[in-house]
Amino acid sequence: MSACVVTMCVCRGVPFETVARMAGAGLTFDQIRARTGCCGGCGTCEPYVRLVIETGAQALPLLSPAAAAAMLARTRADRPITNETGPGRAPGA
Ligand code: FES
Repeated sequence: MSACVVTMCVCRGVPFETVARMAGAGLTFDQIRARTGCCGGCGTCEPYVRLVIETGAQALPLLSPAAAAAMLARTRADRPITNETGPGRAPGA
């Protein structure tokens, strides 16, 4: 039986390989998001994109909702939540 893995932002068609390459070149999450559009649709991929940036991994196991929320809380600590919508975002934001 094969495990499910996440390898791209489905909404914007951005492979995590691209994210990893951009992160390796020193781009931040916000810069990668602005240039590729990743995380700009449903937002489900954001914890995965942040993991790619942090670890360089390009195929990630499915995260539980709690693990995804924890990843967002930890990596967004230095970044105010704006008008984004999607999982893990502050209510009313
Ligand atoms: S999967 Fe990336 S924004 Fe929806």
